[in-house]
Amino acid sequence: MKNQIIIFDTTLRDGEQSPGASLNIYEKLEIARQLEKLNVDIIETGFPISSPEQFEAVERIAGEVDLVIAALARAKEIDIETAYKAIRNADRRRIHTFVGTSDHHISGKFSDQRYGRSLAEKRETVIKMSRDAVQYAKTFCDDVEFSAEDAGRTEINYLCDVIEVAVEAGATTINIPDTTGYALPEELSAKIKAIREKVNNIDRAILSIHCHNDLGLAVANSLAAVEAGARQVECTINGIGERAGNASLEEIVMTLKVRKDFLDYQTNINTKEIYNTSHMVSGLTGMIVQPNKAIVGGNAFAHESGIHQDGMLKNRNTYEIMTPDEVGVPKTKMVLGRHSGRHGLKARLTELGYTVTEDDLKKLYALFIELADKKKEVYDDDLRVLMGDEIYIEESHVHLEQMQVHLGTNAIPTATVSLKVNDHMIHESATGDGPVDAIFNSIDRALNTKYKVESYQVRSVTEGRQAMGEALIRIRNEGKSFTGRGVSTDIIEASAKAYLHAINLLEIEKKAEQEKEVPELEEERQI
Ligand code: KIV
Ligand code: ZN
Repeated sequence: MKNQIIIFDTTLRDGEQSPGASLNIYEKLEIARQLEKLNVDIIETGFPISSPEQFEAVERIAGEVDLVIAALARAKEIDIETAYKAIRNADRRRIHTFVGTSDHHISGKFSDQRYGRSLAEKRETVIKMSRDAVQYAKTFCDDVEFSAEDAGRTEINYLCDVIEVAVEAGATTINIPDTTGYALPEELSAKIKAIREKVNNIDRAILSIHCHNDLGLAVANSLAAVEAGARQVECTINGIGERAGNASLEEIVMTLKVRKDFLDYQTNINTKEIYNTSHMVSGLTGMIVQPNKAIVGGNAFAHESGIHQDGMLKNRNTYEIMTPDEVGVPKTKMVLGRHSGRHGLKARLTELGYTVTEDDLKKLYALFIELADKKKEVYDDDLRVLMGDEIYIEESHVHLEQMQVHLGTNAIPTATVSLKVNDHMIHESATGDGPVDAIFNSIDRALNTKYKVESYQVRSVTEGRQAMGEALIRIRNEGKSFTGRGVSTDIIEASAKAYLHAINLLEIEKKAEQEKEVPELEEERQI
């Protein structure tokens, strides 16, 4: 349909590149299933060449989720082959290959003389790389997307030359990323119009837009591109992504819906799943949504002032341009407690969008009862936090069995931990500058390690005096960072869990690197 906008969700690829947002394979699967319910058209599931975990997550999603599954690849044969290997079990698959086309990118990334001596020669090399990459991707898959990275800052005539070559080579989607979030709406609109006018056979491909939010213009830029002729929009849930993030899916979709009078386009999105998807992504990534965030923020439908409340009571249209119901905000807050049974817990989690297996339920119910004992009333947000906690870490190398901290005004903080390490119990104590330092020191002593802590934060993630505290920690080992997350009604325990989570991620990666072998696929090439 002429006015149909294809929604390409990149929460699991560009979104996951947000600092501190790393998701494990189970969390990615859970989000991918929820994106299926939201009814996005395409999900970009990851960048398979970048790590064995990324490969495995893309492969699992490709086998289980019924959407077009895209995987990212640089304009290199090894990336393209690996991307294909990861998505080959999907019924509908797309290889998304990209190369930097702005002078900034060309002179930065391709500074080596083998790409050419002058900028003009390097530009020629990039044109050849684009053609070769698309042609190679086409040997595996009909559906090939080509992105001219940093198109937002690429000189228009050269951009048109690159795109023409990619279309000639068979790209079915041409994506225009504003990689640095630099462009203005009018500029992007003019760029899309120029591409449509100048590039031969541009009608053979769908034009796509991919905006970053460095100047807060990602959504406005995406909509301007749509009006100029783009028919695919790349976006993420809650607008998460590199630096200031990507264009937010919910803002684009709801703007198109609410302002249909002006923007006559439609998407396939089931808007009633927006609220659950946003909360799930926030719960699993640990990236809190600011209260005043459009569509999904805690205050998005709150009316505080007397004048507004009075107006709303008389006629909701006075201050409301869409209803909470349209985006799936629940009418009442459900509360569970220690007398709630397994069925009640499972039913509520299912309503919140989670897929709960019988095995998960056993583990979850025990955690839920532990929480209900401490908190008495367990709200939806508590359940989401629980789902984003240790529930998905199946292969834990080390687990916190018990901890104790001794504190006092004039006492030296001392912590004792009991850790289960691959079925062995280890008990250790240590002192520290404060209770958290003491806990980390006792864990280090028990495991005979000492990791550099790059960042550490604690915050409350649910409401009330017995709110759940969340600790986030980033540790570094051999040039790589690992972000751990822990939640508890006790912030010292949350900190210990977060530290152990990061250590477990590090161990899982070490193990995966030793074990992972990418399978052969010669016979599956199409030509
Ligand atoms: O922002 C960007 O340029 C990207 C591309 C890889 C599409 O994310
Ligand atoms: Zn991007």
